[in-house]
Amino acid sequence: MKYSKFPQRLLIFSVFLSLFLPVNNFSWANPLPLTEINNSINMAKNLESSPFGGHVHALAINPLTNELFLGARPIYNSQDGGKTWNAIAIPKSKPRANVTSIIIDPRNPEIMYATGHGLSVIKSVDGGKTWAVKNKGLNSDSTEAITIDVYDSNKLYLAVLGDGLYRSQDAGESWQRISDFPKNQEIRTLASVGYPTGMGGIWLYAGVDDGVTKSPDCFCGWDKLANEGLPKKRIYSLALGAIVLSWGLITPPAKSQPNNTISVYRSPNCGCCQGWIKHLQEAGFKVKDYVTENLDNIKDKYDIPEKLITCHTAITNDYIIEGHVPAQEIQKILQTKPNIAGLGVPGMPIGSPGMESGNYFEPYTVFAFTKNGKLQKFAKY
Ligand code: CU
Ligand code: CU
Repeated sequence: MKYSKFPQRLLIFSVFLSLFLPVNNFSWANPLPLTEINNSINMAKNLESSPFGGHVHALAINPLTNELFLGARPIYNSQDGGKTWNAIAIPKSKPRANVTSIIIDPRNPEIMYATGHGLSVIKSVDGGKTWAVKNKGLNSDSTEAITIDVYDSNKLYLAVLGDGLYRSQDAGESWQRISDFPKNQEIRTLASVGYPTGMGGIWLYAGVDDGVTKSPDCFCGWDKLANEGLPKKRIYSLALGAIVLSWGLITPPAKSQPNNTISVYRSPNCGCCQGWIKHLQEAGFKVKDYVTENLDNIKDKYDIPEKLITCHTAITNDYIIEGHVPAQEIQKILQTKPNIAGLGVPGMPIGSPGMESGNYFEPYTVFAFTKNGKLQKFAKY
């Protein structure tokens, strides 16, 4: 994707979800086509009550598991694309505290943050199962919006209602006030946008009471945008959910371009391995082909999970690729850099890259695996 298109796209996503509405009785098809979300929101416009105990301001999706998180009173999650929801216990907050934003670290989706009126900042390091308060350095527990630096997971920006903008440089452990809000405005939503400012930093975009504004991360002044195409009304915190969602769908620009070299370890007579190598080359990878009689050593060396072990092992940019993984999934992790050890396709499904056989196709799953051997579904074919 082109560098320069990024902020504009984020804003379009923000506008989609910036309608501040109670939501009732809708379900989303996996994996959440945006038109459906938009329709659901429009459909829900006139409904009075919400099964979530309040307005739905926040929405986030775990890019690895497709698990959804919704912020109202308090936080709910869904593992079936929004058909059923479960309330998640969060630290004791003021009665009627309303969640205003939820974000997921795109590099490590186990790490999540949420803000809310009466909630302060809460953080989860286990994919949203348990949460802890992170309010050191804050004067108020009315937090409105939070975003994570596109290039640095330790750096967070936080808008505190009626107060100002705060930054954390230690993943939420402490907060420092760094800026006033734009003149006479409250910040309703924040987004860190990896678009160079020309001053050695990147932009922070903010939804305010009458549109969108931006500031370089030196915080030397807010710059009102033309706001063409935006509704002339408040840009609310639901947009932040959209930003996280868009991280799942649009790849943020990578800081350094990934290396396109991939080392493939295979046994001498493996025809399907050579088929997969060809597929990688066609997708633009530079393949180093290592032929070995002793593949077991390779599987041991890289600690490939038992369930995934198959005909070849490949290494690229420190990620391990086991089996007939489609090149586009490898490219996806090279761009988004998730905190995983690698990807694998178990068995050798007919119809996977390198295993083509006429029109025959056996459905298969691409798994992500962690260093301690935990598997998660990553993609389905
Ligand atoms: Cu094979
Ligand atoms: Cu192979």
